[in-house]
Amino acid sequence: MKVLAISGSLRADSYNTALARAAAELVPDDVEVELYDGLGLLPPYDQDLDQPGSDPPEPVHELRDRIEAADALLVVTPEYNGSVPGVLKNAIDWASARHRGSSFAGKTVAIAGATTGQYGAIWAQQDLRRVLGIAGARVLPEEFPLSRAQEAFDEHGQLRSALHEERLRSHLAALVAEAEPAPSAVAQNDEGPREAALHLVRR
Ligand SMILES: Cc1cc2nc3c(=O)[nH]c(=O)nc-3n(C[C@H](O)[C@H](O)[C@H](O)COP(=O)(O)O)c2cc1C
Repeated sequence: MKVLAISGSLRADSYNTALARAAAELVPDDVEVELYDGLGLLPPYDQDLDQPGSDPPEPVHELRDRIEAADALLVVTPEYNGSVPGVLKNAIDWASARHRGSSFAGKTVAIAGATTGQYGAIWAQQDLRRVLGIAGARVLPEEFPLSRAQEAFDEHGQLRSALHEERLRSHLAALVAEAEPAPSAVAQNDEGPREAALHLVRR
């Protein structure tokens, strides 16, 4: 099984990217976690470049192809001003274009977030759940807040605590258990994913 990990931070020493890398070490042997590193190459979303008959920039194709080829996703988000970073929302918008069929359609997604403060990106994860759900993903109900990330990681970007590792391992185990083999992107019904998202939000 292949899991694509997307970190919402472009920062070289990002704790969220470190969390995605830690995840790659904690999955069972038959699960491969790949890190998507093209977030900073995506242009700002422009619907004029995303019409039937238009050809979006190459990084957009790469993003969509990698999401569609994955059996499941792990999306790890910082929290900026109480929500998801703009670069991450931008990527989700590119990958969810309605006329093509959302790359997230039916995709099983686990979310997580690390911050240096005490709440572990909990608001960003709530927003991320809603946005991904509207884009057609099946977002697992659990969140993974990692607070005081500057203390949670050592200077090599490794999690210091066995407890954090155990929490992350079980978060990933839930993702693997829920994920099914990669479906191809299916045409997105205008109402279906929105209804599914509302269902998730209400749970
Ligand atoms: C513009 C900006 C806004 C931020 N807003 C929040 C916030 O609302 N809540 C929070 O817990 N941390 C906030 N932070 C701190 C981030 O959690 C911290 O910088 C974190 O390390 C970013 O993730 P990264 O290490 O993966 O880059 C903010 C940081 C920046 C740069």
